[in-house]
Amino acid sequence: MTTGDDRPMLTTRQGQPVYDNQNQRTVGARGPATLENYHFLEKISHFDRERIPERVVHARGTTSYGYFEAYGKLGDEPISRFTRAKLFQEPGKRTDVAVRFSTVIGGRDSAETARDPRGFAVKFYTEDGNWDLVGNNLGVFFIRDAIKFPDVIHSLKPDPVTFRQEPARIFDFMSQTPESTHMLVNLFSPRGIPATYRFMQGFGVNTYKWVNDRNETLLVKYHWMPKQGVRSLTAQDAAAIQAGDLGHATKDLMDAIDRGDYPEWELLVQVMSDDEHEELDFDPLDDTKVWPENDFPPRPVGRLVLDRNVSNIFAENEQISFGTGVLVDGLDFSDDKMLVGRTFSYSDTQRYRVGPNYLQLPVNQAKNADVRTNQRDGMMAYHVDGAGENPHVNYEPSITGGLREAPSPGQEVGPVITGRLTRRRIPRTNDYKQAGQRYLLMHQWERDDLVHNLVTLISQCARPVQERMVWHFLMAEDELGLRVGQGLGITAADVAHLEPLPGQVLTDEERQRLSQLG
Ligand code: HEM
Repeated sequence: MTTGDDRPMLTTRQGQPVYDNQNQRTVGARGPATLENYHFLEKISHFDRERIPERVVHARGTTSYGYFEAYGKLGDEPISRFTRAKLFQEPGKRTDVAVRFSTVIGGRDSAETARDPRGFAVKFYTEDGNWDLVGNNLGVFFIRDAIKFPDVIHSLKPDPVTFRQEPARIFDFMSQTPESTHMLVNLFSPRGIPATYRFMQGFGVNTYKWVNDRNETLLVKYHWMPKQGVRSLTAQDAAAIQAGDLGHATKDLMDAIDRGDYPEWELLVQVMSDDEHEELDFDPLDDTKVWPENDFPPRPVGRLVLDRNVSNIFAENEQISFGTGVLVDGLDFSDDKMLVGRTFSYSDTQRYRVGPNYLQLPVNQAKNADVRTNQRDGMMAYHVDGAGENPHVNYEPSITGGLREAPSPGQEVGPVITGRLTRRRIPRTNDYKQAGQRYLLMHQWERDDLVHNLVTLISQCARPVQERMVWHFLMAEDELGLRVGQGLGITAADVAHLEPLPGQVLTDEERQRLSQLG
């Protein structure tokens, strides 16, 4: 297609017209060039700075926009009994959202067919400010204490010498990390490669709280269920797609939105009273566990629809910044030891990756709330919020103007905490039971796929790592352990001599399993 002369004219960033965008200014047609070539130097030096660091994890992703529509209820009950968060209250109320789906380990241009957890991050632009729900598609995680996050990620990222993702490194770490067993059973099953982003579930994974008007709190877990259904790829399907396309999942989502086939998810929430739940055989703040759905049924609270693609990948997908600390009134943190670590990490990395004023960017602004702060200056500050009547007062308190504190939404609802400062794992680790239950819930073909995937990779590891992995799987479920062992040429008797790992505390049931291994 050719265009006429009514197109807008090219200018420099300073607004001067560009008369010649093909030739530098030189002494004579053959050069040399001169240094006062303002347009040329600006053009090249801006280009030299086009890249920012990619996300340290979740670098490959895609963003779309849409809305969240509330049902006004949690299941059949008015939602106000459980939370006062405004976005959930009125049936039919819509809140703008931006959603970023991602893979975790690969770089920005890596294959979307990777066996990898998928990120499912939702930014709700509510009238009370932004709320980010930053989850994944598998419902659990590899570790339960944030201090281990750099280690688990290093083991999964490419080897620092060969730059290849090495099963030997992954399972070296996992074999020493029994709490990862549940996640591994999910990741190496067909669920580990969702067909595309439209066909996967999402989960908040970490435990949060809800707060109602009476300042009563509950523990909650979030689930996103795709109306499109759940579909996955086998390793062979994934390899075939990857041969022709590294970005099939982004394309699938963008194409669906372009043709008006808007993907939709329902948000369901599990609630639990806000206490330690000594009666359970797991800790409700442990993100390596799911909450049994029979006891804590997920109940619908609203639906999410994606109906608009981004118009610029860099501004809207690279610079969008989510964080677990980004909550609104009626929602709160729990003491989940991963959640506190995550809450520090996200805004810390974004100040480095995007810049200290990343929240001034349009995609990150709390666009449906009034934003008035006394934060000032810093690199790339382009706008002064909250100056009000008296721009001299950029501090608080003041009797001459400026901003005042908002009225308190209620008394503090945090738990009363006493205890010794310590470094200890939580008491109810129970690392294997839910992993075994998950295996038993799988169809035969899913079990076969899981065992095949595990054997393929663990066979590339050193024998002691193989033995320890078989030991973990035997502790989770006999059939799983025996089948993985069979694939590796390792029997239960071969691993019966292994002691629990240092610091590992077994349940009575696990001790009994251990005694039966020989
Ligand atoms: C992205 C840290 C656990 C889901 C990130 C980023 C960091 C990070 C630094 C990059 C953010 C950016 O550059 O904007 C951590 C730490 C964790 C942790 C320290 C544990 C202590 C988890 C868990 C989940 C999760 C358990 C799932 C529930 C995500 C998602 C993104 C992300 C979805 C991508 C957000 C986006 O699309 O921009 N994480 N993470 N992370 N993380 Fe985590």
